[in-house]
Amino acid sequence: MSAAPNERPASALTVRPMLADDLDETLRIKAAAFEVDAGEHATTIGRWRRQAEHLLRSDPDASFMAEREGRLVGVAQALRRERLWCLSLLAVDPREQGAGAGRALFQRSLACAASDDAALIVGSNDSRALRLYGLAGFELRPTLHTEGSVERRELPRPDPAVREAGASDLEELAAISRELRGAAHTHELIYAMDEGARLLRLADRGYAAVIPGHGVWMLAAREERAAGTLLWHALEMVGDTDRPAVRWITGGQRWAAQAALQAGLRLSSYGALCVRGAPGPLRPYLPSGPFA
Ligand SMILES: CC(C)(COP(=O)(O)OP(=O)(O)OC[C@H]1O[C@@H](n2cnc3c(N)ncnc32)[C@H](O)[C@@H]1OP(=O)(O)O)[C@@H](O)C(=O)NCCC(=O)NCCS
Repeated sequence: MSAAPNERPASALTVRPMLADDLDETLRIKAAAFEVDAGEHATTIGRWRRQAEHLLRSDPDASFMAEREGRLVGVAQALRRERLWCLSLLAVDPREQGAGAGRALFQRSLACAASDDAALIVGSNDSRALRLYGLAGFELRPTLHTEGSVERRELPRPDPAVREAGASDLEELAAISRELRGAAHTHELIYAMDEGARLLRLADRGYAAVIPGHGVWMLAAREERAAGTLLWHALEMVGDTDRPAVRWITGGQRWAAQAALQAGLRLSSYGALCVRGAPGPLRPYLPSGPFA
């Protein structure tokens, strides 16, 4: 009986640490796996490169390449902050999918987590990925994202208590992230600000990071009223964008869905927030896609 095309011996596959020289291949594999045309989306590829470099610097022991018969076929990057592990990237070259590379990369990445770490993954719609995460003990919480542009006339009057924050606020904002997801976002917020993100803070009640013209990067608040106020300000700051302005809204976060609908945005379901252990309440909260 002949073997199916993707049934290859597992021994042909190796997983090794990522090196700086692997960045071009990392981006090639990621673009192919997520069906992004690198030629047409040079800005996205540039952002992905800086993201991959950021993690390679901060978590060099949690970035991996899968190799089969001398070819690089897959990539994974994870990060650990305090007692929280997050998977940032898992992608396999489409020609090599369904042959075990994703599972091998995921297992190697997950092994970087300490046994009592909480764990978060902002997951795509890929059924193979959801299988890997679900069978590894992650709870799969489906998420919504927005489409369309904000109806500016629907925006409420600005709340004077919301102000722009900067580097000197980061220590205080860290406490909010710890309450919500068990670890500070500080290191990633510094990265995001270098990428053009701006911080909005509502006293000690919550904060958001926003990339104007792009989207809400993340939001964490101590109560829903503050979260809703911050989201309105964030939407105004996002302005026009051709991508989802708000992503990864888990069920039960009416404050976020309501603000999005009132702002004239369309909601549709995409992906899942995958949760293992006890990172924190995770609401009111919009995670960062790559850094949760
Ligand atoms: C998700 C992805 C990384 C998985 O890697 P892969 O090498 O294709 O997956 P594997 O071959 O290791 O298979 C993973 C699991 O899915 C199962 N699987 C394989 N093909 C499948 C299919 N067509 N449908 C459903 N499950 C499938 C496998 O049996 C395996 O489960 P098992 O080990 O319990 O048997 C890869 O498919 C990919 O790059 N997808 C696009 C990018 C993406 O969405 N990444 C995830 C971001 S969160």
